[in-house]
Amino acid sequence: MSTALRYLMCAPSHYEVDYVINPWMEGNVHRSSREQAERQWQGLYQLLTSLAQVQLVEPAPGWPDMVFTANAGLVLDRNVVLSRFFHPERQGEEPYFRSWFEKQGYVVCELPEKIAFEGAGDALFDREGRWLWAGYGFRSSLESHPYLAKYLDSEVLSLRLVDGRFYHLDTCFCPLADGYLLYYPPAFDEISNRLIESRVHPDKRIVVGEADAVNFACNAVNVGRTVIVNQVTAGLAARLDSCGFAVRQTPLTEFLKAGGAAKCLTLRLTEPRTVELPQVQTTA
Ligand code: ARG
Repeated sequence: MSTALRYLMCAPSHYEVDYVINPWMEGNVHRSSREQAERQWQGLYQLLTSLAQVQLVEPAPGWPDMVFTANAGLVLDRNVVLSRFFHPERQGEEPYFRSWFEKQGYVVCELPEKIAFEGAGDALFDREGRWLWAGYGFRSSLESHPYLAKYLDSEVLSLRLVDGRFYHLDTCFCPLADGYLLYYPPAFDEISNRLIESRVHPDKRIVVGEADAVNFACNAVNVGRTVIVNQVTAGLAARLDSCGFAVRQTPLTEFLKAGGAAKCLTLRLTEPRTVELPQVQTTA
């Protein structure tokens, strides 16, 4: 594997809104356009390939949400903690992602059965590699967090999600380069907000309002000083600009119907690390 920045994506050949497992999918069953989804996905893919390497996993028929590769697992160096999906509707994706990781030579760590964990959808590394922010409350269970700490030898900061619209951590929280954080505070309980504030200096907190939050502004892909998003308000774009970030908007409305946008459609395969640690050798 090369040392370049790499992401994993999955083409939307079998994408559609087929069931309801989050509030965004309600009223959208069979209401998405495959053609439009393909176009929008290509837009994101082209943008990302201009900034980083993008690898692809083959989409599997019958698993329409597989396009959201953020939920494949959580990768650090050569290790991956495989997802254990909360809903049966997505559990069938697990063997496909597992086999992709195995073929690529990753050490695959598996959580005990019944401990739900939805990968990088609910676990985001601080961009300086100092710790791992991990969400719980809807999809991933709090019980998964000690396993993440052990498997990836990282400090894990647990954040409780309280608004069903923001059911995955990456829907309302995005660590950015240089210690910045883009997030929507009402999606978290009080204790979690205090924890965030204790770790992120006020100057580095980029708080978004509800109008941006519901357009998945926090579901951003941050590559260096570029922030790729579905859509942001002029106010948020100006704030990001003043912090030194170039915003690239690319429409992803077809994926919003399933409750996902830019970040959900990608999985970062290379993460920063401040300290070099020995690699995990076992899967237990
Ligand atoms: N329909 C998918 C689900 O509910 C969307 C997943 C979005 N992924 C994410 N990382 N937020 O599971």
